[in-house]
Amino acid sequence: MCGIVGAVAQRPVSGILLEGLRRLEYRGYDSAGLAVLEGDTIQRLRRAGKVANLSQAEQDMPLKGFSGIAHTRWATHGKPTENNAHPHMSGSDLAIVHNGIIENFEPLKQQLQSDGFIFTSDTDTEVIAHLVARSVNQGKSLQDAFLETVSHLEGAFALGVLHKDYPNQILASRKGSPLVVGVGIGENFIASDQMALLQVTDRFIYLEEGDFVQVTPDTLVIWDAELKQVDRPVKTFEHSLSTVDKGEFRHFMMKEIYEQPEVVKATLQGRISEKHLLEQAFGSDATAAFDQADHVQIIACGTSFHAGLVAKYWLEDMAGIPCAIEVASEYRYRKHVIPAKTLFVTISQSGETADTLAALRAVKGKVLASLAICNVPGSSLVRESDLCLMTNAGPEIGVASTKAFTTQLVALLMLSIALARRHGLTEAKEAELVQALHQLPVLLLAAVKLNKDIEVLSQDFAEKNHALFLGRGPLYPIAMEGALKLKEISYIHAEAYPAGELKHGPLALVDKEMPVIAVAPNNALLDKLKANLQEVKARGGELFVFAGADHIQPEEGLKVEQMPDVPEILEPIVYTIPLQLLSYHVAVLKGTDVDQPRNLAKSVTVE
Ligand code: AGP
Repeated sequence: MCGIVGAVAQRPVSGILLEGLRRLEYRGYDSAGLAVLEGDTIQRLRRAGKVANLSQAEQDMPLKGFSGIAHTRWATHGKPTENNAHPHMSGSDLAIVHNGIIENFEPLKQQLQSDGFIFTSDTDTEVIAHLVARSVNQGKSLQDAFLETVSHLEGAFALGVLHKDYPNQILASRKGSPLVVGVGIGENFIASDQMALLQVTDRFIYLEEGDFVQVTPDTLVIWDAELKQVDRPVKTFEHSLSTVDKGEFRHFMMKEIYEQPEVVKATLQGRISEKHLLEQAFGSDATAAFDQADHVQIIACGTSFHAGLVAKYWLEDMAGIPCAIEVASEYRYRKHVIPAKTLFVTISQSGETADTLAALRAVKGKVLASLAICNVPGSSLVRESDLCLMTNAGPEIGVASTKAFTTQLVALLMLSIALARRHGLTEAKEAELVQALHQLPVLLLAAVKLNKDIEVLSQDFAEKNHALFLGRGPLYPIAMEGALKLKEISYIHAEAYPAGELKHGPLALVDKEMPVIAVAPNNALLDKLKANLQEVKARGGELFVFAGADHIQPEEGLKVEQMPDVPEILEPIVYTIPLQLLSYHVAVLKGTDVDQPRNLAKSVTVE
C-alpha cells in the first residue's frame, strides 16, 4: 500500500526521500513522487511505475531543498498515472502526500469545485490539498488550516504537508493509517514505517491514532486527537540494516524462506524451557485472561488467516475449547454473538491491516481480552491489544508472506499449549510438545534443503494455467496457503480443497492439464488421503505428493518428494516449506516480479 517519507534537515533531502521510497517498495505501489522546497518554490517530480524511474528523473533534474515529502502510490481512486501520483498540490503553494482513503471526498470535491478550485487528478487525496489551501487563503495559519481540514475528513489517512511559506517544517497526522516519526540530530523525519528511515536513524516515535505532529530539524511537537500537546516515547529500533538487504539471494522471498530455521529459533527463544512453555512471554496480564477464557475467536486476513485455521485444529484438539475463526473483512461488518469469556486473537504480520484493526476495534469492551500475534513491534494492532506475542521473524519484505507465516504457527502452537494446560494437558504431554518445538529449526532446515529437487519439480508447472492443492486435517489450511502462494507470485490459478471434498465437485476438473499437489505426512489421515489420490489418478490427473519417508511410492503420473519425518504436531509448519519453494521456482520460471507481484501490497492499510 502507499508509502510516505518526509524529511526536514540541514542538508539536501532528496537522496534521503528516494532511499526511503526504495525501502518502502515492498509495500506495493504503482507510481512514485516527491516534492522539495527550494527557496520559496516547491519543486515536484512524479513518475508512473518504479521508484527507479523517479530516481532517474531526479538525477536529470537534481533537487537541492532541505525539506520535502515523498510517496509511493498504490492506485485506489484513478489509474496509476503520473497525474494521479502524489504529492498533490493546490496551486504552487503547498504539497501533500496521503496514505489511506478519504471516504467523503466526493461531497468535499463538489464543494471545492463550486469554490473555484480546479482538480488535476482523479484521486481522493487532492481534496486535502485544496482544503488546506482554502483555509490558509482565508487567513489561517498552516497548522490551524491543517487541523481544520483533518476534522472534515472521513476514512483512513496518514498525511504529510509541505508549504512554501513555512520553510524547514512538515506537518503530519495519522488516523487509521500508520505513521512514525524518525528522530535524528539536527534533522527529523516521518515515514509509513521505520524501515524507510533506517539509513538515517534508529530512533522512532510511534504516533497514536489522531496524533498531529509539527516536524522541524530541531523540534518535534505532538498533539493528540484532543489537541492536547503530548510527549510520546522515543524507541530504539533493534533490527540491523542487513535485515533489509537481499544478501546473496536473488529475491527477498527466497532469503526469507531460507531464514525460517533461524527466525523460528528467535520466536521460541526465551519462551520455552527444556520441557515447559514459559507463559510469561504473553505478558503479565495473560495468566488471568488464559485462566478465564473458555472460547477463542481468531481474526485475520490472507496468509495470517491460514495460520489461524491451523490453530483452530490445535486449540480444539489440545485444549478442547471452542475456537471460531473468520476473515476480518467479513467479521467487521456483521453482528456477532460473542461468548462472555472470549479471548479475541488477531494475527497479522504487519499489524496495520485495516480490516483486522477494524475487527479488533469493533469488539473493544465486549471480549475478555484481546491478543495480537504480530511481527511488527509498535504497530497499531500491538498497541491497541491487551496482550501481544511478537513473532520475531524480522522484517518481511517479499509481498508473499513466508517466514511470518511459519513463525505465526509457532506462536499459535505456544498459545494452544498455554490454554491446553488449563484444560487437562498433562505435564508429560506438554514436555513432549515442547521437545518437538526444540527440534523444529533442524527439521525446517532439512525441508529447506529440498530446494534443488523442488526447483526441478517446478518445471512441470510453468506451462500450466491451473493447479489443485489437497490436504486433510490441519494440513488442509497448509494446502490453502500453498494455493495462495502459487496464485500470488506465479499468477497461476490455484484452488485448495480438503481431500475428502474432491468427489463432491472438484474431481470434475481433473485431467492431465490440472496438476494436483498433495501434502501427505504420515498421520492418522494418510490412508484416507491415499484413497483420494487414487481418485485423482483414476481420472488421468498428474499428482505431486509431499510425503513422509517411504509411505507413498512414486509411479506413473505420481511424483513423490520425500519429506523429513516430523512429529505430528509440527507437520503443518514443516510441510509449508516445500509449497513456498515450489511457488517461488514456478514464479522465477514464469519471470514474474517475485517480491512485488502485480496488484498486491505488503501492508494492506485500506479496506
Ligand atoms: C500473504 O502472502 C499476503 N500477501 C496477504 O495475504 C497477507 O497475509 C494479508 O494481507 C494479511 O496481512 P497481515 O498479516 O500483515 O495482516
